[in-house]
Amino acid sequence: MATATKQPARREAFGSRNVFILSAIGSAVGLGNIWRFPYVAYEGGGGAFLIPYLCALLTAGIPLLFFDYAIGHRFRGSAPLAFRRLHRAAEPLGWWQVLICVVIAVYYAVIIAWSAMYTWFSAQLTWGKGNENDFFFSDFLQMADVKEVGVSTQFVPQVGIPLVLVWLVVIVIMCLGVKRGIGAANMILMPLLSLMFLVLVVQSLFLPGALDGLNAFFTPDWKALANPAVWASAYGHIFFSLSVAFGIMVTYSSYLKRRTDLTGSGLVVAFANSSFEILAGIGVFAALGFMAAAQGTDVSGVASSGIGLAFIAFPTIVSNATGGSIIGVLFFGALVFAGVTSLISILEVIVAALQDKLGWRRVPTTLVVAIPLAAISTALFSTTTALAVLDTADAFVNAFGIMAVALVAVIVVAWFLHKLPALQEHLNRRSSFRVGTVWKLLVGVLAPLVLGYLLVNELIAKISAPYGDYPGWFLSIFGWGMAIALILGGVALSFVPWSKSSHAKDDSDYDEFLLDEAYDPDPETGSIRVATQGGAR
Ligand code: ALA
Repeated sequence: MATATKQPARREAFGSRNVFILSAIGSAVGLGNIWRFPYVAYEGGGGAFLIPYLCALLTAGIPLLFFDYAIGHRFRGSAPLAFRRLHRAAEPLGWWQVLICVVIAVYYAVIIAWSAMYTWFSAQLTWGKGNENDFFFSDFLQMADVKEVGVSTQFVPQVGIPLVLVWLVVIVIMCLGVKRGIGAANMILMPLLSLMFLVLVVQSLFLPGALDGLNAFFTPDWKALANPAVWASAYGHIFFSLSVAFGIMVTYSSYLKRRTDLTGSGLVVAFANSSFEILAGIGVFAALGFMAAAQGTDVSGVASSGIGLAFIAFPTIVSNATGGSIIGVLFFGALVFAGVTSLISILEVIVAALQDKLGWRRVPTTLVVAIPLAAISTALFSTTTALAVLDTADAFVNAFGIMAVALVAVIVVAWFLHKLPALQEHLNRRSSFRVGTVWKLLVGVLAPLVLGYLLVNELIAKISAPYGDYPGWFLSIFGWGMAIALILGGVALSFVPWSKSSHAKDDSDYDEFLLDEAYDPDPETGSIRVATQGGAR
């Protein structure tokens, strides 16, 4: 046993499996589903995107969701601690994921802030009819070109002030802890979000021209399927959307009680997430159909900028449809709720990791994490060049952060550490949906092959042409530099010693958990096995 002088605080837990499921759905259903999916789908050829999307979901998204659950639940820790308990040498993977969350958190909060402002604007039609595109880029973001002004420090108050408020709200939720903060916020916000969303999608389906939008969404463009970039964005998106491979599901499942149906929960979460996503696609494309009909053009001609799609398409409906303000308040309000429940899960990865490493209590750890992040987020993203930084960081962190860490994690765990059979056994101990050889093949063989191929393609594409036509120095900092810093930072953090009072030094909580498992008869065979894992010290 450990020689710790001070006992670390007992690991927090969700109140019940239902709260876990709701929180995991809360994490998965986020800006990815409502803001990101429609524009990624739109850029990926509209309807063509659904095929790579479904392939990515079934061959990588769900199998890796189970993989994350198994690691988090089996090794009962934040990402760095869980990977360290899996094998000491795997700890940097956990820190890499933590740093990915740092990057995502700082830009994620700003989209919630935009949405909060747009909820307010919807009620007043602030943008002025017919001016939705210019309003978003020029009046609201006051966008400047990085080629001309470099990285601007000019503060945009209508973004900066709500951004600070968003951070305050999430800091309060996080300080309240897993049960009273994260669990309770999800119990309130998720039912509200679902209701708002349903009303919204039904309303948008009744708009004139909606059908043309849906045709554009559901009609496959077979040519686009030959483009590896479309597949890469589908795989990158599915991980982002399901909150897979960046530590969230590892962390959340570590707060589950021992006896739990992991794969059953995972299927509920994945199904709920994709339903939201497809519904969001239907809503946004119905809106595009309506815009196209109003402007007498076709769907492909109505939205010029992907990243701003939701902030242009929806205001246009709000301006033109009967009851438009209600649609706007529902849509942007839903974005805020979905965003907040995801942002807290992203921050929890960082807070839990530091709590485990330092053995600190929740409130000081939350403040030490969230206040500097709030400051960076406000400094970088309430300026006139925020959109370029956000666009670049999002594209690079998805490809060379999330997809890359997923690739390295499956290779390390499956090929070097040979842990897939142990994880499979853990998943099957209590789960209603048993995973077998197919799961091991998907995680250990197909995922690395597909991810490896896509990453090489992404690398070639991003080296051969500057992403988004941004200047080289800009991409070197916010794209390549950021992605490389995440890896180096992850390795460096794994060398920082664990505090004497940390969970890695005193595993009593984890030992108890394992002991219980060890003397528990296997549900299939009835045999009693002794746990042999551990060794975090
Ligand atoms: N899973 C979260 C989202 O989709 C991060 O936005």
